[in-house]
Amino acid sequence: MTSKNRITRRDFIKLMGMGAGTLTLSACGLIPSASSAPTTARVLSTPFTPAPVSPSLVVDLTAGATTIRVFSGPETSVWRYQASVKEGSGESIQTLSGSYLGPIFRVRQGQQVRVRLKNELPDPTIVHWHGLRIPEDMDGHPRYAIAPGASYEYDFQVINRAGTYWFHPHPHQLTAPQVYYGLAGLFIVSDDEEAALGLPSGEYDIPLVIQDRAFDSQNQMVYLANGMMDQMIGFLGDTILVNGAPNANLDVKASVYRLRLLNGSNSRIYKLAWQDGTPLTVIATDGGLLEAPVTRDYITLAPGERVELWADFSKQTAGSEMRLVSLPFSGFSSGGMMGGGMMGNSSLPNGAPLNILSLKIGEKGADVTPLPSRLSTMERHRVDEAVNRNNPRSFALAMQNMIHTINNRVFEMDAVARDEIVQLGDLELWEFINREGGGGGMGMGMMNMELPHPMHIHGVQFQVIGRQIAKEYESAYQELSAGFVDDGWKDTVLVMPGEKVQVLVRFENYEGTFLYHCHNLEHEDAGMMRNYKIES
Ligand code: C2O
Ligand code: CU
Ligand code: CU
Repeated sequence: MTSKNRITRRDFIKLMGMGAGTLTLSACGLIPSASSAPTTARVLSTPFTPAPVSPSLVVDLTAGATTIRVFSGPETSVWRYQASVKEGSGESIQTLSGSYLGPIFRVRQGQQVRVRLKNELPDPTIVHWHGLRIPEDMDGHPRYAIAPGASYEYDFQVINRAGTYWFHPHPHQLTAPQVYYGLAGLFIVSDDEEAALGLPSGEYDIPLVIQDRAFDSQNQMVYLANGMMDQMIGFLGDTILVNGAPNANLDVKASVYRLRLLNGSNSRIYKLAWQDGTPLTVIATDGGLLEAPVTRDYITLAPGERVELWADFSKQTAGSEMRLVSLPFSGFSSGGMMGGGMMGNSSLPNGAPLNILSLKIGEKGADVTPLPSRLSTMERHRVDEAVNRNNPRSFALAMQNMIHTINNRVFEMDAVARDEIVQLGDLELWEFINREGGGGGMGMGMMNMELPHPMHIHGVQFQVIGRQIAKEYESAYQELSAGFVDDGWKDTVLVMPGEKVQVLVRFENYEGTFLYHCHNLEHEDAGMMRNYKIES
Protein backbone atom coordinates (compact mmCIF):
# COMPACT_ATOMS: atom_id res chain seq x y z
CA MET A 1 0.00 0.00 0.00
CA THR A 2 1.47 3.36 -0.97
CA SER A 3 1.86 6.20 1.49
CA LYS A 4 -0.46 8.28 -0.64
CA ASN A 5 -3.09 5.70 -0.03
CA ARG A 6 -2.58 5.86 3.69
CA ILE A 7 -3.18 9.59 3.63
CA THR A 8 -6.33 9.09 1.66
CA ARG A 9 -7.49 6.59 4.13
CA ARG A 10 -6.67 8.70 7.15
CA ASP A 11 -8.42 11.70 5.69
CA PHE A 12 -11.38 9.58 4.90
CA ILE A 13 -11.63 8.22 8.39
CA LYS A 14 -11.31 11.70 9.81
CA LEU A 15 -14.05 12.89 7.50
CA MET A 16 -16.23 10.11 8.76
CA GLY A 17 -15.64 11.11 12.34
CA MET A 18 -14.46 7.60 12.85
CA GLY A 19 -11.03 8.16 14.35
CA ALA A 20 -10.42 6.01 17.37
CA GLY A 21 -11.24 8.72 19.88
CA THR A 22 -14.44 9.84 18.28
CA LEU A 23 -16.75 6.92 18.65
CA THR A 24 -17.83 7.57 22.19
CA LEU A 25 -21.57 7.47 22.31
CA SER A 26 -22.77 10.58 24.02
CA ALA A 27 -26.18 10.57 25.56
CA CYS A 28 -26.86 14.09 24.42
CA GLY A 29 -26.71 13.29 20.76
CA LEU A 30 -24.07 13.94 18.23
CA ILE A 31 -20.43 13.43 18.90
CA PRO A 32 -17.88 16.11 18.20
CA SER A 33 -15.66 14.72 15.50
CA ALA A 34 -11.91 14.69 15.37
CA SER A 35 -11.79 17.72 13.13
CA SER A 36 -11.02 20.18 15.88
CA ALA A 37 -7.49 18.85 15.71
CA PRO A 38 -5.47 20.76 13.13
CA THR A 39 -5.56 18.96 9.85
CA THR A 40 -3.51 19.21 6.74
CA ALA A 41 -5.95 20.41 4.20
CA ARG A 42 -5.78 18.22 1.18
CA VAL A 43 -7.55 20.14 -1.48
CA LEU A 44 -7.73 18.53 -4.83
CA SER A 45 -8.48 21.25 -7.28
CA THR A 46 -7.99 19.06 -10.30
CA PRO A 47 -10.10 16.02 -11.03
CA PHE A 48 -8.85 12.93 -9.32
CA THR A 49 -8.42 9.92 -11.52
CA PRO A 50 -7.46 6.69 -9.85
CA ALA A 51 -3.71 6.40 -10.25
CA PRO A 52 -2.23 4.91 -13.42
CA VAL A 53 -4.85 2.50 -14.58
CA SER A 54 -3.24 -0.83 -14.22
CA PRO A 55 -4.91 -3.16 -16.65
CA SER A 56 -5.54 -5.71 -13.99
CA LEU A 57 -6.13 -5.70 -10.31
CA VAL A 58 -5.53 -8.67 -8.05
CA VAL A 59 -6.96 -8.53 -4.55
CA ASP A 60 -7.01 -10.98 -1.68
CA LEU A 61 -10.32 -10.63 0.14
CA THR A 62 -10.81 -12.41 3.44
CA ALA A 63 -14.12 -12.75 5.24
CA GLY A 64 -13.51 -13.34 8.91
CA ALA A 65 -14.37 -12.50 12.49
CA THR A 66 -12.87 -9.63 14.42
CA THR A 67 -13.81 -7.06 17.04
CA ILE A 68 -14.02 -3.33 16.56
CA ARG A 69 -14.85 -0.32 18.68
CA VAL A 70 -18.31 0.96 17.80
CA PHE A 71 -19.16 2.44 21.21
CA SER A 72 -17.17 3.16 24.33
CA GLY A 73 -16.90 0.12 26.57
CA PRO A 74 -16.67 -3.41 25.21
CA GLU A 75 -15.68 -3.86 21.59
CA THR A 76 -18.23 -5.30 19.20
CA SER A 77 -17.77 -8.69 17.58
CA VAL A 78 -18.29 -8.38 13.85
CA TRP A 79 -17.60 -10.13 10.60
CA ARG A 80 -15.52 -8.14 8.18
CA TYR A 81 -13.96 -8.27 4.75
CA GLN A 82 -10.30 -7.40 4.63
CA ALA A 83 -8.55 -6.74 1.38
CA SER A 84 -4.98 -6.54 0.27
CA VAL A 85 -3.83 -5.56 -3.17
CA LYS A 86 -1.53 -8.17 -4.69
CA GLU A 87 -1.17 -6.60 -8.10
CA GLY A 88 -2.19 -3.20 -9.40
CA SER A 89 -2.52 0.19 -7.79
CA GLY A 90 -2.85 0.41 -4.02
CA GLU A 91 -5.35 3.20 -4.64
CA SER A 92 -7.77 0.66 -6.01
CA ILE A 93 -8.71 -0.27 -2.47
CA GLN A 94 -9.76 2.17 0.25
CA THR A 95 -10.26 0.95 3.76
CA LEU A 96 -12.74 2.21 6.32
CA SER A 97 -10.53 1.44 9.23
CA GLY A 98 -12.34 1.18 12.53
CA SER A 99 -15.48 0.10 10.70
CA TYR A 100 -16.93 -3.34 10.17
CA LEU A 101 -17.68 -2.37 6.58
CA GLY A 102 -15.51 -3.87 3.92
CA PRO A 103 -13.15 -2.10 1.61
CA ILE A 104 -14.10 0.22 -1.21
CA PHE A 105 -12.93 -0.94 -4.62
CA ARG A 106 -12.17 1.89 -7.05
CA VAL A 107 -11.83 0.57 -10.55
CA ARG A 108 -12.08 1.75 -14.13
CA GLN A 109 -14.43 0.40 -16.71
CA GLY A 110 -12.55 -2.19 -18.77
CA GLN A 111 -10.28 -3.29 -15.95
CA GLN A 112 -9.77 -6.97 -15.30
CA VAL A 113 -10.43 -7.74 -11.64
CA ARG A 114 -9.22 -10.85 -9.88
CA VAL A 115 -10.34 -11.43 -6.34
CA ARG A 116 -9.30 -14.37 -4.23
CA LEU A 117 -11.98 -14.80 -1.60
CA LYS A 118 -10.88 -16.67 1.50
CA ASN A 119 -13.58 -17.88 3.88
CA GLU A 120 -12.50 -17.55 7.49
CA LEU A 121 -16.07 -17.56 8.80
CA PRO A 122 -17.61 -20.49 10.65
CA ASP A 123 -20.23 -20.81 7.89
CA PRO A 124 -20.29 -21.13 4.11
CA THR A 125 -20.11 -17.89 2.17
CA ILE A 126 -19.74 -16.45 -1.31
CA VAL A 127 -19.45 -12.87 -2.59
CA HIS A 128 -22.04 -11.36 -4.92
CA TRP A 129 -21.11 -8.21 -6.89
CA HIS A 130 -24.38 -6.33 -6.77
CA GLY A 131 -25.15 -4.50 -10.01
CA LEU A 132 -22.23 -5.84 -12.03
CA ARG A 133 -22.71 -7.49 -15.39
CA ILE A 134 -20.54 -10.56 -15.05
CA PRO A 135 -20.69 -14.28 -15.95
CA GLU A 136 -22.82 -16.55 -13.80
CA ASP A 137 -19.91 -18.25 -12.05
CA MET A 138 -18.58 -14.83 -10.99
CA ASP A 139 -21.92 -13.62 -9.67
CA GLY A 140 -21.98 -15.26 -6.26
CA HIS A 141 -24.97 -17.55 -6.69
CA PRO A 142 -25.48 -19.60 -3.49
CA ARG A 143 -24.58 -22.79 -5.35
CA TYR A 144 -21.00 -21.48 -5.48
CA ALA A 145 -20.77 -20.98 -1.72
CA ILE A 146 -17.51 -22.20 -0.23
CA ALA A 147 -16.97 -24.00 3.06
CA PRO A 148 -15.09 -22.52 6.00
CA GLY A 149 -11.40 -22.50 5.16
CA ALA A 150 -11.97 -22.68 1.41
CA SER A 151 -11.25 -20.10 -1.31
CA TYR A 152 -12.96 -18.89 -4.47
CA GLU A 153 -11.32 -17.19 -7.42
CA TYR A 154 -13.11 -14.37 -9.18
CA ASP A 155 -11.79 -13.15 -12.48
CA PHE A 156 -13.94 -10.80 -14.51
CA GLN A 157 -13.78 -7.72 -16.62
CA VAL A 158 -15.64 -4.63 -15.44
CA ILE A 159 -17.96 -3.78 -18.31
CA ASN A 160 -20.40 -1.66 -16.30
CA ARG A 161 -20.52 2.06 -16.82
CA ALA A 162 -19.37 4.35 -14.01
CA GLY A 163 -21.46 3.90 -10.90
CA THR A 164 -21.68 2.97 -7.25
CA TYR A 165 -22.02 -0.79 -7.08
CA TRP A 166 -21.48 -2.94 -4.01
CA PHE A 167 -20.74 -6.44 -2.83
CA HIS A 168 -22.00 -8.66 -0.07
CA PRO A 169 -22.37 -12.34 0.84
CA HIS A 170 -25.01 -14.50 -0.85
CA PRO A 171 -24.94 -17.99 0.71
CA HIS A 172 -28.17 -19.97 0.93
CA GLN A 173 -30.32 -18.67 3.80
CA LEU A 174 -27.36 -16.89 5.37
CA THR A 175 -27.21 -13.66 3.39
CA ALA A 176 -29.10 -11.57 5.93
CA PRO A 177 -27.08 -12.53 9.02
CA GLN A 178 -23.76 -12.26 7.19
CA VAL A 179 -24.57 -8.78 5.92
CA TYR A 180 -25.96 -7.88 9.32
CA TYR A 181 -22.82 -8.84 11.20
CA GLY A 182 -20.80 -6.60 8.95
CA LEU A 183 -20.00 -8.11 5.57
CA ALA A 184 -20.48 -5.56 2.79
CA GLY A 185 -18.36 -3.20 0.75
CA LEU A 186 -18.54 -0.81 -2.18
CA PHE A 187 -17.40 -1.33 -5.75
CA ILE A 188 -17.05 2.05 -7.41
CA VAL A 189 -16.51 2.15 -11.15
CA SER A 190 -15.37 5.17 -13.14
CA ASP A 191 -15.25 5.64 -16.89
CA ASP A 192 -14.21 8.24 -19.47
CA GLU A 193 -17.65 9.77 -19.86
CA GLU A 194 -17.78 10.45 -16.14
CA ALA A 195 -14.17 11.64 -15.91
CA ALA A 196 -14.84 14.26 -18.60
CA LEU A 197 -17.40 15.95 -16.32
CA GLY A 198 -14.90 16.86 -13.62
CA LEU A 199 -17.32 15.94 -10.85
CA PRO A 200 -16.20 16.47 -7.24
CA SER A 201 -13.49 13.93 -6.55
CA GLY A 202 -10.90 12.87 -4.03
CA GLU A 203 -11.96 14.12 -0.62
CA TYR A 204 -15.08 15.60 -2.19
CA ASP A 205 -16.36 12.21 -3.28
CA ILE A 206 -17.77 10.47 -0.22
CA PRO A 207 -19.54 7.13 -0.01
CA LEU A 208 -22.13 6.86 2.76
CA VAL A 209 -23.51 3.44 3.63
CA ILE A 210 -26.67 3.67 5.74
CA GLN A 211 -27.61 0.72 7.95
CA ASP A 212 -29.58 -0.05 11.09
CA ARG A 213 -28.52 -2.44 13.83
CA ALA A 214 -29.56 -3.41 17.36
CA PHE A 215 -27.03 -3.72 20.18
CA ASP A 216 -27.24 -5.25 23.64
CA SER A 217 -25.86 -3.69 26.80
CA GLN A 218 -22.49 -5.28 26.07
CA ASN A 219 -22.35 -3.54 22.67
CA GLN A 220 -22.95 -6.79 20.80
CA MET A 221 -25.15 -6.90 17.74
CA VAL A 222 -28.50 -8.56 18.27
CA TYR A 223 -30.22 -10.18 15.30
CA LEU A 224 -33.82 -11.36 15.00
CA ALA A 225 -34.68 -10.86 18.64
CA ASN A 226 -38.34 -10.98 17.73
CA GLY A 227 -37.99 -14.31 15.98
CA MET A 228 -40.55 -15.01 13.34
CA MET A 229 -41.98 -11.50 13.28
CA ASP A 230 -38.56 -10.15 12.34
CA GLN A 231 -38.31 -12.73 9.62
CA MET A 232 -41.70 -11.92 8.14
CA ILE A 233 -41.43 -8.17 8.33
CA GLY A 234 -37.69 -7.88 7.98
CA PHE A 235 -35.15 -6.91 10.60
CA LEU A 236 -35.36 -3.34 11.93
CA GLY A 237 -32.65 -2.05 14.28
CA ASP A 238 -32.94 0.90 16.62
CA THR A 239 -29.48 2.33 15.94
CA ILE A 240 -28.66 4.02 12.65
CA LEU A 241 -25.08 3.76 11.44
CA VAL A 242 -23.34 5.48 8.58
CA ASN A 243 -20.20 3.72 7.33
CA GLY A 244 -20.41 1.68 10.51
CA ALA A 245 -20.52 4.65 12.89
CA PRO A 246 -23.48 5.51 15.12
CA ASN A 247 -24.42 9.18 15.49
CA ALA A 248 -22.36 9.83 12.44
CA ASN A 249 -20.70 13.16 11.76
CA LEU A 250 -19.02 14.42 8.69
CA ASP A 251 -16.78 17.48 8.56
CA VAL A 252 -17.08 19.11 5.19
CA LYS A 253 -15.66 22.23 3.63
CA ALA A 254 -17.72 25.00 2.12
CA SER A 255 -17.64 23.41 -1.31
CA VAL A 256 -19.44 20.91 -3.50
CA TYR A 257 -19.54 17.20 -2.69
CA ARG A 258 -20.54 14.06 -4.46
CA LEU A 259 -22.26 11.92 -1.85
CA ARG A 260 -22.76 8.29 -2.83
CA LEU A 261 -25.55 6.82 -0.72
CA LEU A 262 -26.17 3.10 -0.36
CA ASN A 263 -29.02 1.71 1.70
CA GLY A 264 -27.16 -1.29 3.08
CA SER A 265 -29.85 -2.10 5.64
CA ASN A 266 -31.51 -5.50 5.74
CA SER A 267 -35.06 -4.17 5.49
CA ARG A 268 -35.38 -0.52 6.51
CA ILE A 269 -36.57 2.05 3.99
CA TYR A 270 -35.39 5.65 4.29
CA LYS A 271 -37.16 8.85 3.28
CA LEU A 272 -34.05 10.99 3.01
CA ALA A 273 -34.11 14.77 3.15
CA TRP A 274 -32.07 17.74 4.26
CA GLN A 275 -33.44 18.88 7.58
CA ASP A 276 -33.90 22.49 6.40
CA GLY A 277 -36.02 21.47 3.43
CA THR A 278 -33.39 22.20 0.77
CA PRO A 279 -34.24 19.94 -2.18
CA LEU A 280 -31.82 17.11 -2.90
CA THR A 281 -30.02 17.13 -6.22
CA VAL A 282 -29.67 13.61 -7.61
CA ILE A 283 -27.03 12.86 -10.23
CA ALA A 284 -27.00 9.05 -10.26
CA THR A 285 -28.94 5.93 -9.35
CA ASP A 286 -28.00 2.22 -9.07
CA GLY A 287 -26.41 1.95 -12.50
CA GLY A 288 -24.63 5.29 -12.65
CA LEU A 289 -25.16 8.83 -13.84
CA LEU A 290 -28.54 10.12 -14.94
CA GLU A 291 -28.80 11.95 -18.24
CA ALA A 292 -29.36 15.16 -16.31
CA PRO A 293 -29.64 16.04 -12.64
CA VAL A 294 -33.07 15.88 -11.00
CA THR A 295 -34.24 17.37 -7.73
CA ARG A 296 -36.48 15.84 -5.11
CA ASP A 297 -37.82 17.14 -1.82
CA TYR A 298 -37.00 13.73 -0.41
CA ILE A 299 -35.59 10.46 -1.72
CA THR A 300 -37.08 7.06 -0.98
CA LEU A 301 -34.19 4.61 -0.67
CA ALA A 302 -34.95 0.92 -0.20
CA PRO A 303 -32.46 -1.81 0.73
CA GLY A 304 -29.92 -2.38 -2.03
CA GLU A 305 -30.62 0.91 -3.80
CA ARG A 306 -28.05 3.64 -4.38
CA VAL A 307 -28.40 7.28 -5.17
CA GLU A 308 -25.73 9.92 -5.66
CA LEU A 309 -26.21 13.50 -4.53
CA TRP A 310 -24.65 16.72 -5.67
CA ALA A 311 -24.37 18.55 -2.35
CA ASP A 312 -23.37 22.19 -2.53
CA PHE A 313 -22.25 23.56 0.83
CA SER A 314 -20.33 26.46 -0.69
CA LYS A 315 -22.86 29.08 0.41
CA GLN A 316 -22.98 27.83 3.98
CA THR A 317 -21.19 29.76 6.67
CA ALA A 318 -18.36 28.14 8.53
CA GLY A 319 -19.60 26.46 11.67
CA SER A 320 -23.09 25.84 10.39
CA GLU A 321 -24.59 22.39 10.26
CA MET A 322 -26.62 20.44 7.77
CA ARG A 323 -28.41 17.26 8.71
CA LEU A 324 -29.44 14.40 6.52
CA VAL A 325 -32.58 12.95 8.08
CA SER A 326 -35.19 10.34 7.32
CA LEU A 327 -38.65 11.88 7.40
CA PRO A 328 -41.56 10.10 9.07
CA PHE A 329 -43.99 8.08 7.01
CA SER A 330 -46.81 5.90 8.15
CA GLY A 331 -45.25 2.52 7.62
CA PHE A 332 -46.87 -0.51 6.13
CA SER A 333 -49.66 -2.68 7.22
CA SER A 334 -53.25 -3.07 6.40
CA GLY A 335 -53.55 -5.96 8.73
CA GLY A 336 -53.85 -6.27 12.44
CA MET A 337 -51.68 -5.05 15.24
CA MET A 338 -48.78 -7.22 14.26
CA GLY A 339 -48.19 -5.58 10.92
CA GLY A 340 -45.08 -3.86 9.78
CA GLY A 341 -46.36 -0.39 10.49
CA MET A 342 -45.87 1.89 13.41
CA MET A 343 -46.78 -0.99 15.70
CA GLY A 344 -44.25 -3.29 14.13
CA ASN A 345 -41.48 -5.38 15.52
CA SER A 346 -38.98 -2.70 16.44
CA SER A 347 -38.82 0.16 18.86
CA LEU A 348 -37.90 2.10 15.74
CA PRO A 349 -40.39 0.96 13.11
CA ASN A 350 -40.12 1.62 9.40
CA GLY A 351 -41.30 5.20 9.01
CA ALA A 352 -39.97 6.52 12.30
CA PRO A 353 -38.18 9.87 11.92
CA LEU A 354 -34.41 9.46 12.06
CA ASN A 355 -31.21 11.43 12.15
CA ILE A 356 -28.88 9.94 9.60
CA LEU A 357 -25.83 12.19 9.39
CA SER A 358 -24.71 15.59 10.66
CA LEU A 359 -22.47 17.60 8.41
CA LYS A 360 -20.44 20.37 9.94
CA ILE A 361 -19.42 23.03 7.45
CA GLY A 362 -15.87 24.30 7.80
CA GLU A 363 -13.52 26.54 5.87
CA LYS A 364 -13.81 27.29 2.20
CA GLY A 365 -12.82 24.33 0.10
CA ALA A 366 -12.02 23.65 -3.51
CA ASP A 367 -13.39 25.98 -6.14
CA VAL A 368 -16.93 25.15 -6.99
CA THR A 369 -17.45 23.63 -10.38
CA PRO A 370 -20.95 24.22 -11.69
CA LEU A 371 -23.38 21.32 -11.80
CA PRO A 372 -23.29 19.98 -15.37
CA SER A 373 -26.69 20.25 -17.01
CA ARG A 374 -25.97 17.09 -18.97
CA LEU A 375 -24.37 14.15 -17.17
CA SER A 376 -24.39 11.16 -19.46
CA THR A 377 -25.88 9.52 -22.49
CA MET A 378 -28.35 6.76 -21.81
CA GLU A 379 -29.69 4.41 -24.38
CA ARG A 380 -33.44 4.56 -23.70
CA HIS A 381 -35.26 1.26 -24.03
CA ARG A 382 -38.62 1.48 -25.76
CA VAL A 383 -41.52 -0.69 -24.80
CA ASP A 384 -42.42 -1.35 -28.43
CA GLU A 385 -39.00 -2.95 -28.86
CA ALA A 386 -39.62 -5.49 -26.10
CA VAL A 387 -40.07 -9.01 -27.48
CA ASN A 388 -42.97 -9.57 -25.09
CA ARG A 389 -44.50 -6.07 -25.27
CA ASN A 390 -48.02 -7.53 -25.44
CA ASN A 391 -47.42 -10.15 -22.85
CA PRO A 392 -45.31 -8.85 -19.96
CA ARG A 393 -43.49 -11.36 -17.80
CA SER A 394 -45.38 -10.97 -14.51
CA PHE A 395 -44.17 -11.68 -11.02
CA ALA A 396 -46.84 -11.75 -8.32
CA LEU A 397 -45.46 -10.99 -4.86
CA ALA A 398 -47.50 -12.48 -2.06
CA MET A 399 -47.42 -14.09 1.33
CA GLN A 400 -48.48 -17.67 1.77
CA ASN A 401 -48.18 -19.70 4.95
CA MET A 402 -46.23 -16.79 6.44
CA ILE A 403 -43.65 -16.91 3.68
CA HIS A 404 -43.25 -14.34 0.96
CA THR A 405 -43.48 -15.87 -2.48
CA ILE A 406 -42.90 -14.94 -6.13
CA ASN A 407 -45.53 -16.44 -8.44
CA ASN A 408 -46.42 -18.85 -5.62
CA ARG A 409 -42.88 -20.18 -5.53
CA VAL A 410 -39.95 -19.97 -3.17
CA PHE A 411 -36.25 -20.39 -3.88
CA GLU A 412 -34.96 -23.76 -5.06
CA MET A 413 -31.22 -23.98 -5.56
CA ASP A 414 -31.17 -25.31 -9.10
CA ALA A 415 -34.74 -24.98 -10.33
CA VAL A 416 -35.70 -22.73 -13.20
CA ALA A 417 -39.36 -22.79 -14.23
CA ARG A 418 -40.44 -22.62 -17.88
CA ASP A 419 -41.56 -19.04 -17.37
CA GLU A 420 -38.16 -18.09 -15.95
CA ILE A 421 -36.18 -18.59 -19.13
CA VAL A 422 -35.21 -15.65 -21.35
CA GLN A 423 -33.17 -15.36 -24.53
CA LEU A 424 -29.76 -13.75 -24.65
CA GLY A 425 -30.02 -10.39 -26.39
CA ASP A 426 -33.75 -9.95 -25.84
CA LEU A 427 -35.30 -6.82 -24.43
CA GLU A 428 -38.18 -7.81 -22.14
CA LEU A 429 -40.97 -6.14 -20.26
CA TRP A 430 -41.13 -7.41 -16.69
CA GLU A 431 -43.70 -6.43 -14.10
CA PHE A 432 -43.70 -6.93 -10.37
CA ILE A 433 -47.16 -6.93 -8.83
CA ASN A 434 -47.55 -6.51 -5.08
CA ARG A 435 -51.31 -6.81 -4.85
CA GLU A 436 -52.03 -10.18 -3.43
CA GLY A 437 -52.30 -8.92 0.08
CA GLY A 438 -51.15 -11.26 2.78
CA GLY A 439 -52.60 -14.15 4.58
CA GLY A 440 -56.15 -13.85 3.28
CA GLY A 441 -57.75 -17.25 3.56
CA MET A 442 -55.49 -18.17 6.39
CA GLY A 443 -58.17 -17.06 8.78
CA MET A 444 -55.59 -15.08 10.66
CA GLY A 445 -56.36 -11.42 10.30
CA MET A 446 -53.45 -10.49 12.49
CA MET A 447 -51.07 -11.95 9.97
CA ASN A 448 -52.48 -9.96 7.12
CA MET A 449 -49.30 -8.08 6.30
CA GLU A 450 -48.78 -6.05 3.24
CA LEU A 451 -45.18 -5.16 2.89
CA PRO A 452 -42.99 -3.34 0.42
CA HIS A 453 -40.59 -5.49 -1.59
CA PRO A 454 -37.44 -4.00 -3.14
CA MET A 455 -37.04 -6.29 -6.16
CA HIS A 456 -33.56 -6.90 -7.53
CA ILE A 457 -32.40 -8.65 -10.69
CA HIS A 458 -28.85 -10.01 -10.91
CA GLY A 459 -26.61 -9.54 -13.90
CA VAL A 460 -28.46 -6.62 -15.51
CA GLN A 461 -29.37 -2.96 -15.23
CA PHE A 462 -32.95 -2.08 -16.15
CA GLN A 463 -35.18 0.94 -16.72
CA VAL A 464 -38.37 1.58 -14.77
CA ILE A 465 -41.06 2.63 -17.22
CA GLY A 466 -44.27 2.57 -15.24
CA ARG A 467 -45.88 2.38 -11.85
CA GLN A 468 -49.52 1.90 -11.00
CA ILE A 469 -51.00 1.97 -7.55
CA ALA A 470 -54.33 0.44 -6.60
CA LYS A 471 -56.81 3.01 -5.33
CA GLU A 472 -57.14 1.79 -1.80
CA TYR A 473 -53.37 2.05 -1.26
CA GLU A 474 -52.93 5.54 -2.62
CA SER A 475 -52.64 7.55 0.55
CA ALA A 476 -49.85 5.49 2.12
CA TYR A 477 -48.17 5.31 -1.28
CA GLN A 478 -48.14 9.05 -1.74
CA GLU A 479 -46.08 9.47 1.40
CA LEU A 480 -43.14 7.87 -0.41
CA SER A 481 -43.76 7.97 -4.14
CA ALA A 482 -42.45 11.48 -4.80
CA GLY A 483 -39.08 10.19 -3.63
CA PHE A 484 -38.59 7.55 -6.30
CA VAL A 485 -35.89 8.30 -8.84
CA ASP A 486 -36.75 6.20 -11.88
CA ASP A 487 -34.90 8.33 -14.41
CA GLY A 488 -31.77 6.22 -14.71
CA TRP A 489 -30.39 2.69 -14.69
CA LYS A 490 -31.61 0.52 -11.84
CA ASP A 491 -30.94 -2.96 -10.53
CA THR A 492 -33.28 -2.75 -7.55
CA VAL A 493 -36.74 -1.18 -7.50
CA LEU A 494 -39.11 -0.71 -4.61
CA VAL A 495 -42.53 -2.26 -5.16
CA MET A 496 -44.96 -0.83 -2.64
CA PRO A 497 -48.06 -2.56 -1.27
CA GLY A 498 -50.78 -2.27 -3.88
CA GLU A 499 -48.31 -1.41 -6.61
CA LYS A 500 -47.40 -2.75 -10.03
CA VAL A 501 -43.99 -1.71 -11.36
CA GLN A 502 -42.96 -2.24 -14.97
CA VAL A 503 -39.34 -2.41 -16.07
CA LEU A 504 -37.58 -2.92 -19.38
CA VAL A 505 -34.58 -5.18 -19.16
CA ARG A 506 -32.17 -6.44 -21.79
CA PHE A 507 -30.28 -9.68 -21.18
CA GLU A 508 -27.33 -8.66 -23.23
CA ASN A 509 -24.08 -9.95 -21.84
CA TYR A 510 -23.81 -13.50 -20.58
CA GLU A 511 -25.93 -16.60 -20.70
CA GLY A 512 -26.42 -18.59 -17.53
CA THR A 513 -28.47 -18.87 -14.39
CA PHE A 514 -28.90 -15.72 -12.34
CA LEU A 515 -31.09 -14.66 -9.45
CA TYR A 516 -33.94 -12.26 -8.97
CA HIS A 517 -35.22 -11.63 -5.48
CA CYS A 518 -36.53 -9.30 -2.86
CA HIS A 519 -33.67 -7.30 -1.32
CA ASN A 520 -35.36 -7.28 2.05
CA LEU A 521 -32.72 -9.74 3.21
CA GLU A 522 -34.98 -11.59 5.62
CA HIS A 523 -37.50 -12.11 2.83
CA GLU A 524 -34.71 -13.27 0.55
CA ASP A 525 -33.34 -15.77 3.07
CA ALA A 526 -36.85 -17.08 3.70
CA GLY A 527 -37.19 -17.91 0.02
CA MET A 528 -38.42 -14.78 -1.78
CA MET A 529 -35.87 -15.44 -4.50
CA ARG A 530 -35.78 -17.43 -7.74
CA ASN A 531 -33.42 -18.36 -10.53
CA TYR A 532 -33.90 -17.13 -14.03
CA LYS A 533 -31.95 -18.45 -16.96
CA ILE A 534 -30.52 -16.60 -19.92
CA GLU A 535 -30.26 -18.95 -22.89
CA SER A 536 -28.71 -18.36 -26.25
CU1 C2O B 1 -27.52 -7.34 -3.41
CU2 C2O B 1 -28.78 -10.91 -4.78
O1 C2O B 1 -28.18 -9.16 -4.05
CU1 CU C 1 -27.32 -8.34 -6.75
CU1 CU D 1 -39.80 -8.58 0.32
